[in-house]
Amino acid sequence: MMIEKEEIVSRIKRLKQEKDVVILSHYYMPAELQFELADGGFVDFVGDSLGLSVQASNTHARNILFCGVRFMAETALLVNNGKNVFMPNPSAGCSLASSISAADVRALKEQYPGVPVMGYINTYAETKTELDICCTSRNAIAVAASLEGDRIIFVPDLYMGENLQKVIKKELGKDLILWNGSCEVHEQFRNFLPQMAAENNAEMLFHWEVPEEITNMMDDGRKGIVGSTGDILKYVKESNASRFYLASECDLSVALKKENADKEFITPCVKCPYMKQNTLLKLLEALEAIGGEAEAAYRIDLDADIIAKAKLPVERMLAVKI
Ligand code: 13P
Ligand code: SF4
Repeated sequence: MMIEKEEIVSRIKRLKQEKDVVILSHYYMPAELQFELADGGFVDFVGDSLGLSVQASNTHARNILFCGVRFMAETALLVNNGKNVFMPNPSAGCSLASSISAADVRALKEQYPGVPVMGYINTYAETKTELDICCTSRNAIAVAASLEGDRIIFVPDLYMGENLQKVIKKELGKDLILWNGSCEVHEQFRNFLPQMAAENNAEMLFHWEVPEEITNMMDDGRKGIVGSTGDILKYVKESNASRFYLASECDLSVALKKENADKEFITPCVKCPYMKQNTLLKLLEALEAIGGEAEAAYRIDLDADIIAKAKLPVERMLAVKI
């Protein structure tokens, strides 16, 4: 039997209350999973990966239901090990996170002894056990500034690394040693370069994860920002422009339009297939399962020794002030 959307939403609201669940959602979730409490919905907090990690570390609820991808939910468990962490679909992956293993990081450390390893938060917990410090796309430059020495190993995003390298060399005089991982979503924007170039009257909204040939447009005097999802939202709010070109995941437009009803956003609408493995119905199923035997299918579990080691680079990152 098909359940109406309104009925699903009301069941979600009741169950989250009954079971003491906080619901966290990334900006790349479909619109129905960005339905916040303040708008009559059920999501406690919508944010970028740094904001979600901070929320996860501060929550008092017994259970966290994380609408995002698996490395994000694992991070929530690392920063708040006392809580139960669940996902609507725990198999939701990420091409960056699966591009590098703990053994790969060990090999890099042997190749470059003494060089600190800054790992993007988009890595699995087992890989994090080998990192010195994590960063997200919002705090990467501040984290790099906090490290000793003139070289940093940055893994796994090659494109983000190339984009960061320009700024980090200029501002901090440091060189990055890079890995060959990429976001399969953001690299697709390469196919839309002619379309972007033709958008003369739009400001550009580029995520750090797009290839350098795209961010090079900024060197040619185009207005806009290269940043995290949160940075992009902040930039648009403060900009006087009325038209923007978004080169990041399509559903970031949900928050952009909500916060800037008077502004226009153009995007080829590239979607992350992993993020979209979360649906309203799956969220309801996860909530129904919490507290019973069926919850195992939605629970994020990690070995205690992995948690003990992997939380250190995340905690070091959270201690860096931005
Ligand atoms: P943010 O840190 O900007 O939220 O990005 C997360 C991500 O997975 C981007 O693809
Ligand atoms: Fe991973 Fe890219 Fe999807 Fe973000 S958008 S979760 S980096 S595959």
